[in-house]
Amino acid sequence: MNLKIALLAGDGIGPEVTNEAVNVLNTVAAAGGHTFTYTSLLIGGAAIDAHGTPLPEETLKETLASDAAFLGAVGDNKFNSLPPSERPEAGLLKIRAELGGFANLRPATAYKALADNSPLRPEITEGVDILFVRELLGGLYFGQPRAWDKTTDRAHNTMVYTRHEVERVAKIAFDIAAKRDKKKVTSVDKANVLECSQLWRAVVTEVAKDYPTVTLEHQLVDSMAIHLMNRPRDFDVVLTENLFGDILSDESGVITGSLGMLPSATLGGKVNLYEPVHGSAPDIAGQGKANPIGAILTAALVLRHSAGLNAEAKIIEDAVVKVLEAGYRTTDIARGDIAGQQTVSTSKMGQLVLDQVTAEL
Ligand code: NAI
Ligand code: MG
Repeated sequence: MNLKIALLAGDGIGPEVTNEAVNVLNTVAAAGGHTFTYTSLLIGGAAIDAHGTPLPEETLKETLASDAAFLGAVGDNKFNSLPPSERPEAGLLKIRAELGGFANLRPATAYKALADNSPLRPEITEGVDILFVRELLGGLYFGQPRAWDKTTDRAHNTMVYTRHEVERVAKIAFDIAAKRDKKKVTSVDKANVLECSQLWRAVVTEVAKDYPTVTLEHQLVDSMAIHLMNRPRDFDVVLTENLFGDILSDESGVITGSLGMLPSATLGGKVNLYEPVHGSAPDIAGQGKANPIGAILTAALVLRHSAGLNAEAKIIEDAVVKVLEAGYRTTDIARGDIAGQQTVSTSKMGQLVLDQVTAEL
């Protein structure tokens, strides 16, 4: 198959981890006779350096003409004095909005080999495999009107959802759940207080009727925050609106043990956008310390959601497990007090996963 990928490596550790992800994609392409072509485009700090703007026209145009967009990270702290609208992150927010993806998928997987990296007890995290489906373009983050009136010091934001917005993201969540082992959707809202949540709950319940094989449960967001830590294994697909999804998916990072391990995919727009969850990590950029696993697992999501190469995606995910089980760690997941571990660089970790993938293809 042919896949044209817009490569938005960004700044900070973005280019370092993107490089490892592309190596893995290339290996899968070579083994399967697929043609993946890449267009390297500037975004964030790298684009400000070259063109004075975090999202050049050409980057947007070329990305919209691609089959998938892979983004490393943006946010070099040398731009910290700039106003928000001119900072690297403005490029990221703009491209997300322009691509129009509304379903943000964030898997939270517990790795047995990293059980000691989580503050939760191993018997709580063992076997956890949650997929958050977070609505990304609605709710409080985009609702109008919004303002901070400096004369009265009164500020307001507006939470808005339409039936259409809820329906389309719910369908994606149920489509995915129907193909997973547990076949369960947990819809999270605050229906005891918010009208938006009452609409959300009503629409999700209707959508569920088209998926008889999938179990639906509703949870209120405040108690869900506790359930996630107490009994994370009970959840499969967690469907929720923008703000709740932002908070709960970050909370679930506790289960995995490092931000550097988490991938994401945003579906439903003109072009799917794939990015590791972490930022540009200026504190470790350029030192070969970045964990490339989040980016490599993001490459697996590209294969699954933009290429239909499910078996290859699984091979990558299994390769990560094997490399961790063999004791290899980047600095963020290394525990010096545990025997049998070896700390490796970004490129070494990438190579180890690559070798494992090559052996399985
Ligand atoms: P961050 O995710 O860049 O870093 C947080 C901490 O986690 C740091 O100590 C960092 O060293 C560590 N870390 C992150 N990714 C890692 C990896 N792959 N391997 C090893 N360690 C890793 O978040 P922070 O520090 O809050 O933000 C830094 C910059 O990144 C800011 O300018 C922020 O706005 C931007 N940012 C960009 C995002 C994106 O491009 N999608 C997302 C989040 C933040
Ligand atoms: Mg967040």
